[in-house]
Amino acid sequence: MIKAPRGTSDILPAASSQWQELEGRLRKLCTAYGYGELRTPIFEATELFARGVGEGTDIVDKEMYTFTDRGGRSLTLRPEGTAPVVRAFLEHKLNQSLPARFFYLGPMFRYERPQAGRMRQFHQFGIELFGAPGPLADVEVIELAWTAYRELGISDLEIKLNSLGCEECRAAYRQELKRRLAPRLSELCGHCQGRYERNPLRILDCKSPQCQGALTELPELSTYLCPECKEHFQQVKEGLSALGIPAVEDPQLVRGFDYYTRTVFEIVAEGLGAQDAVGGGGRYNNLVQDLGGPSVPAVGFAAGIERILLVLEKYGIKLKEEDKPFIYLAPLGKEALLYLFKTGTQLRRQGIPVYLPLEEKSLKAQMKAADRCGASWTLIVGEEELKSGQALLKNMVLGSQQQIQTAKIVEAIAELYREEGSRK
Ligand code: HAM
Repeated sequence: MIKAPRGTSDILPAASSQWQELEGRLRKLCTAYGYGELRTPIFEATELFARGVGEGTDIVDKEMYTFTDRGGRSLTLRPEGTAPVVRAFLEHKLNQSLPARFFYLGPMFRYERPQAGRMRQFHQFGIELFGAPGPLADVEVIELAWTAYRELGISDLEIKLNSLGCEECRAAYRQELKRRLAPRLSELCGHCQGRYERNPLRILDCKSPQCQGALTELPELSTYLCPECKEHFQQVKEGLSALGIPAVEDPQLVRGFDYYTRTVFEIVAEGLGAQDAVGGGGRYNNLVQDLGGPSVPAVGFAAGIERILLVLEKYGIKLKEEDKPFIYLAPLGKEALLYLFKTGTQLRRQGIPVYLPLEEKSLKAQMKAADRCGASWTLIVGEEELKSGQALLKNMVLGSQQQIQTAKIVEAIAELYREEGSRK
């Protein structure tokens, strides 16, 4: 038997309705904040991520699904959404009116070791805000993220916040880091020994226990911030606190991408285990320029949809009840089967969810099936009912029954459906 590839999963109809509801709510929230949906391709030129996310990051070095197409181009299934949005922003000259706000929803791919909450194909919801250098843009992005979780009913959250400074602050820190790590170079893992020259800041992001041991007692990047970066960070914190959004400073937070400057943040949920980050983001003032565009500062955030759904499940929150048919049509005999098939089709064309049997079955089997599918009503039509022009309509909740004229059957059921809708 062929199975779904490791680290991927099928989303079955019962779960799909939760996904649709979640996506719908996120879209609505983004629209209220003035963010427009941007859909980028699932694969991009490999160079976009090598240059955007950064050589030396775990994502680029170890986790990309890269392949050569039949035309000899190197392509990569997108591991994240920021670099593609920047590419589209430049390609379509979306910098005419700034600030510009975009959101996206869709699958991402990383060759990671699968475990609970960590997949190889997963889905992200993300936002990117271009052309706003001030601290309030960072606050807007963090606030939108915070509100998104809160509106879903997730409240046990922590926001971890740090500033990675600008290129100047980092140059000084990089030098100090190399000086401190030089005597301990042999203690680092093989990958980090390579990073030491190429991209030493990435060593701080290494998860191997070997490196964790060598990374103690290092100075914190925050102590190297220039006055402008310090001021920006201070104002982000003040903005968050003015909105009543709790954020905890975490000097160890470095994030796994090279594009960040100044603010970085991660949102973690209580009780999710090792993979507890439900979202993360930060400012990236140089990425647009690094990818060949003008100097446009930007800030953004992305959340893992599967992780949000895991938290909701843990809280016992169902965003939407499962879809059920409104009415179960139970024909008795061949003539009634075709008659109800026609009736059911007319109802479906009006948008009324109908369970329509495709074969003849006994009344007992049909009543059992009607019960199981959760329909509000069952309509029974046999040869006799067709002759008398009176069908039997059963209320599945109350157990009561009534006669209904077959001549006006579609109108009568449509009326019941409207009544039920107005009661909800
Ligand atoms: P990220 O922290 O790599 O950031 O991913 C954002 C979120 O995606 C994570 O917090 C997590 O919830 C989810 N996620 C990541 N990897 C996996 C996985 N393997 N399985 C399941 N969920 C996962 C970014 O991707 C940046 N592009 C965010 C950003 C936007 N920064 C600025 N703008």
